[in-house]
Amino acid sequence: MVRFHGQVYAFLNRCGHVPVELDWQQGEFFDGSGLYLICATHGALYAPDSGRCLGGRCNGKGLDPVPVAEEDGWVVLTEEGGQGGG
Ligand code: FES
Repeated sequence: MVRFHGQVYAFLNRCGHVPVELDWQQGEFFDGSGLYLICATHGALYAPDSGRCLGGRCNGKGLDPVPVAEEDGWVVLTEEGGQGGG
């Protein structure tokens, strides 16, 4: 889960290249610019608001979004499961 421009977004912590966790230190997902999510393993870049692949080895494969919303300061899942779709 990340906060970007005041909004909360959540994705499965799994790179589109190789299914490994993205963070280079626990909970650190942004690159140096603060504009992109970056995979610590090979540096694929993702859009923090959509999970779309923006460059690197993700080869057009984005992150799997998790539907969340912020309610009274709490981040809640907005759908059950998160499986299926597509
Ligand atoms: S594992 Fe993420 S870019 Fe290769």
